[in-house]
Amino acid sequence: MIRSSKEDIAMEVAAECEQPSEDSETAALNIQAPGPTVSFYNLRYCVKERAGMFSMTWVEKEILKDVSGIMKSGMNAVMGPTGSGKTSLLDVIAGRKDPQGLKSGQVLVDGAVVTSSLRLSSAYVVQNDVLMGTLTVRENLTFSANLQLSPADHSFSDKAMKVESVIQELGLKDCADTKIGTMFLRGVSGGEKKRCSIGMELITSPSLLFLDEPTTGLDSNTAHMIITLLHKLSRNGRTIIFSIHQPRYSIFQQFDHLTLLNKGEIIYAGSADKAISYFEGLGYKCDPFNNPADFFLDITNGTLLPQADSAKSENMNGGELVVSENPLAVKYRQSQLGCSVTEQLQELTEGLKSESRPASDKAQYATPFYYQLMLVSSRTVKNILRNPQTSYAQVFLNIFFGVLVGLIYYQIPNSLPEALQNRTGAFFFLVINMVFGNLSAVELFISERVLFIHENSSGYYRTSVYFLSKVFADLIPNRILPVFIFSAIPYFMMALKPEVEAFFLYCVTMSMVSLSAVSLAFLVSASVGSFAMANIFIALPFVFMMVFGGFLVNLNSMLSGMSWLKWISIFRYGFNALAINELKGLVFTSNYTTMTGEMYLDHQEIDYSTWGFWQNQVALGGIMCICLVLAYVQLRRINRWK
Ligand SMILES: Nc1ncnc2c1ncn2[C@@H]1O[C@H](COP(=O)(O)OP(=O)(O)O)[C@@H](O)[C@H]1O
Ligand SMILES: [Mg+2]
Repeated sequence: MIRSSKEDIAMEVAAECEQPSEDSETAALNIQAPGPTVSFYNLRYCVKERAGMFSMTWVEKEILKDVSGIMKSGMNAVMGPTGSGKTSLLDVIAGRKDPQGLKSGQVLVDGAVVTSSLRLSSAYVVQNDVLMGTLTVRENLTFSANLQLSPADHSFSDKAMKVESVIQELGLKDCADTKIGTMFLRGVSGGEKKRCSIGMELITSPSLLFLDEPTTGLDSNTAHMIITLLHKLSRNGRTIIFSIHQPRYSIFQQFDHLTLLNKGEIIYAGSADKAISYFEGLGYKCDPFNNPADFFLDITNGTLLPQADSAKSENMNGGELVVSENPLAVKYRQSQLGCSVTEQLQELTEGLKSESRPASDKAQYATPFYYQLMLVSSRTVKNILRNPQTSYAQVFLNIFFGVLVGLIYYQIPNSLPEALQNRTGAFFFLVINMVFGNLSAVELFISERVLFIHENSSGYYRTSVYFLSKVFADLIPNRILPVFIFSAIPYFMMALKPEVEAFFLYCVTMSMVSLSAVSLAFLVSASVGSFAMANIFIALPFVFMMVFGGFLVNLNSMLSGMSWLKWISIFRYGFNALAINELKGLVFTSNYTTMTGEMYLDHQEIDYSTWGFWQNQVALGGIMCICLVLAYVQLRRINRWK
């Protein structure tokens, strides 16, 4: 049965009121509790910027200058030209901007001080949609529902119903099973993507919703539809705070409260329908057919001047006011509107000082660790399966190089000098392939960085959950499986030791080399933000490790100041282990002499005792563990503030 969206809203309302509703209209009016009141006062926010392109000095730039306001249940629009600080204001209120930049001021929700803890309890739809491109609209919404609704309070069918009702409400029925789309995959339209992003947050029926430019980039009908939807939601007891750029009149009509920003200062905050008369009072004239939103933007941009006293305002600039100060902001502060906000805020904050303490900043997750791990891992696997190019390429590359190495060193004889030269050469080649074949692992934490930061800072899942799911989902199909293919093919083509034990130890060594190289790549991936940087930072240690691997330069003859580098060389450990495993116990002959493998190992000062072999594995394991732990630490340290 296809339900109308009105009925759906009614359903949702009924669910919230926990009483059955007969009529959707009355249900919508029945809501008793209005949304929370958000107040903020004296917000001053600064960012640090370099004084010049190559300058070492930093200057502070004030992007919010003493901003105060009260936003109540309903539609609260923040308007202003680009760069006026709309996004910054929303971010500061929602606790998503670095608290270090906040020089003064506080945010209160229903009279209680909030800090960045608000970021986990409020819903925030960012300007650039962050969705998993390989999943469908419904899968994305289900993912959000599963992680944001606690399994104790919501049954499986509850969540499915919730997802369905959001799909209906947002008019996403036709594209519910279409993939969002990636760079390589054509997906849903821009409007549908935006609606899906809003849906991701609506899943929890939040009473406080932030949206950063929800209509930018959409056609005017879709924009209208989205604002109408938000308007309906706001009537169900929600406080909706959004920034918007150039809304058309039918959209503007739906605003309850309007905040106009100009260069980080408020020039009007109050009822949206009184805004025109406020500016008319200041001498600006709105043409009868002009869109009020355009009228306000013209005022803030300075393209429209007050008719009666434009000369006076210029005088004011040079006269009683400081030159840099914005006359409109000053007028607003001195107006009755501005004064009444200040009074209300004073009343609010007076009672506050003693009793209320900022809520703890510790993240509270709706779902337990294992549940998050299961959901995030299954999404990661799904993503790999739907985007299998990397895995195919990895397997293909490994088969190709496996066969190539096998052909180059085909059936190595036991006669000198080929026996030794070819074996050691082959091992070095194998290790190089193993290490450099894993360069693609540097993309692991880079490609989805924005998505991870958004979801993690919105309280979807823990950092450890993401780390584990990514690492295991990458290791098994892209690293472990190809290693076995790559190891097995040349082993038999080269006719190395035919014993099962030797083959097994050879595979263990190859896996350890691969895993430690991959872990180093993960560490780089978690530490830098771009592919270009990652490539530089991964190539450097690999090349150094190769030089100090013991094959290209005799480590005993090297300057003692540099020889310590051999201790961190994945190449050396891998090469030594492979050499010990193969050469120990072999006898090589030439026309005049015979030579054992041990003699060669002694000559190279490679310890071929049992511990001598295993110490290489322990070292590789150590490198791997250290890199993985550091990668996790780096992932936690990623800057989540905007
Ligand atoms: N983290 C930041 N670092 C440096 N500059 C910033 C930062 N955040 C915002 N700004 C600057 O603050 C000003 C306001 O930005 P923003 O709030 O995004 O404006 P709007 O959303 O109104 O277009 C811009 O000049 C922007 O460059
Ligand atoms: Mg913005």
